[in-house]
Amino acid sequence: MSQPSATEWWRTAVIYQIYPRSFSDSNGDGVGDLPGITKRLPALAELGIDAVWLSPFFRSPQKDAGYDVSDYCDVDPLFGTLADFDELLQTAHGFGLKVIVDMVPNHTSDQHPWFQAALAAGENSPERDRYMFRNGKGKGGATPPNNWESVFGGSMWNRVARPDGTPGQWYLHIFDSSQPDLNWENPWVREQFERILRFWLDRGADGFRVDVAHGMIKKHGLPNYTPPAEAASMGGATDLAPTMVDPQPIAEPPYWGQPGVHEIWRDWHRVLAEYEGDRVLCAEAWVDPLEKVAKWVRPDEMNQAFNFAFMFTAWRGPALRRVIKESIKAFSGVGAPSTWVLSNHDVVRHASRLALRHDSPQGAGIGPKSPGKPDRAVGLRRARAATSLMLALPGSAYLYQGEELGLPEDIELPDSARQDPTWFRTKGEKYGRDGCRVPIPWEAGEPAFGFSASGKSWLPQPSDWGAYARASQAGKPGSTLELYRAALQLRRRYGLASARLEWLRGFGSAVVAFRVAGVTVISNLGPKSVDLPDAEILLASETIVDRVLPRDTTVWLGS
Ligand code: GLC
Repeated sequence: MSQPSATEWWRTAVIYQIYPRSFSDSNGDGVGDLPGITKRLPALAELGIDAVWLSPFFRSPQKDAGYDVSDYCDVDPLFGTLADFDELLQTAHGFGLKVIVDMVPNHTSDQHPWFQAALAAGENSPERDRYMFRNGKGKGGATPPNNWESVFGGSMWNRVARPDGTPGQWYLHIFDSSQPDLNWENPWVREQFERILRFWLDRGADGFRVDVAHGMIKKHGLPNYTPPAEAASMGGATDLAPTMVDPQPIAEPPYWGQPGVHEIWRDWHRVLAEYEGDRVLCAEAWVDPLEKVAKWVRPDEMNQAFNFAFMFTAWRGPALRRVIKESIKAFSGVGAPSTWVLSNHDVVRHASRLALRHDSPQGAGIGPKSPGKPDRAVGLRRARAATSLMLALPGSAYLYQGEELGLPEDIELPDSARQDPTWFRTKGEKYGRDGCRVPIPWEAGEPAFGFSASGKSWLPQPSDWGAYARASQAGKPGSTLELYRAALQLRRRYGLASARLEWLRGFGSAVVAFRVAGVTVISNLGPKSVDLPDAEILLASETIVDRVLPRDTTVWLGS
């Protein structure tokens, strides 16, 4: 690992993802908001994290839960006001927490004034050139410009009408038809985003998580592309390592990970470098292999990229060891920290995913009719072991709200409650991501388990979620919350995140074992128990009896 500088806080940071709709609702409308977050910040400060990343709270028609932005420089009234953001930021800074904003540059909402202007201005106008408009093929241009399939299902192209009502051009949308892709080859678009970045940096934001950073440049000529049938992805078309199985290299889609993105990151890097306090850029980049992801975090580009290869590694010793080795090698090769992540708002929560008996591709979700439903106890036990392993790894770690409570995926969410465009665009074939987005429980006996005083919740909470409430777990030995707290405290105390990892051998292939900053970390993923060396147990994901490490358990040992 490269040596962290004292000021580059993000190299070792634990960054907690807040999904604002589902964190804490202050006004009783059933949707979480910024004042709700501010009110609950003490709980996060107590947990021992370093930063929060807020999923989008900008003005938006909310067709994709805020990832469809109609004004990048304002807060959606659903979440509050700019003044609420300023207060949140100030309060967080008061607790020593950094605040990372989610920037969505690949596409806007179709309600954004830029897109409305593009529709009004007509073909071949400068306004249309800000987006990806093309003429259709075939008779009357009735066939889409190419065969690309949207990540959320259906064609990636939507046809617009001319002012006289006759069918006109098509526009590209990698995601929902309400999310038209911007044309990042157009300097005007680049200038606008520089202004937007500065707007939030001037307000004091500590950096950006960059949404769909891998999609912003498309291959010239927009050639046809057919994804391999079994590709695991946000929509069946990706070069991401398949989930739960060993990675196989597959053909590169012409809309993901094109080399032109690096020029954009260099520009953004220069903008952030003008500001004090080590502002950070973190890429959401579903690209494969890790060496390619590492190119995005070269010294003059972004600072971090999510490690999705780690997230989707099967719960198997050899696979985990390999991905950890490859991550450290790839990222340290460019002087960047590796990141580690197990859950976010787009994937099945790891307390369920790690016990799935069938592959669940990224974004596809699981629901009442999914085969091979996960066993809750097995899932939670593996999740606790996996997180205990992750938080000992050198680099920066991302947590997703609710995982510190051991929350499972909500598998029984009724179809009538679903809101993810994936569910609608695939006509119910894929459940989508609502199951990991259900509002989190704070106090067991309160309305909506403390999420909202009115008892409303934009997605219904399972009736048994009181058992996961934060207040019920706080101070309770052995609870998942206390496990997270202890791990975060020890990680900081021993400086694990900035240390060098040395592998330990001789435990067998189902065991992942290493030493870091004088701490021995052993995860047993296999059925055979492991005799533990005689050393102080600093942390254990389950109770350890007779110095024997059972299946699906991680320990940290002192010297
Ligand atoms: C990212 C977000 C996801 C969103 C998509 C489109 O992948 O994480 O939630 O739907 O981008 O913006």
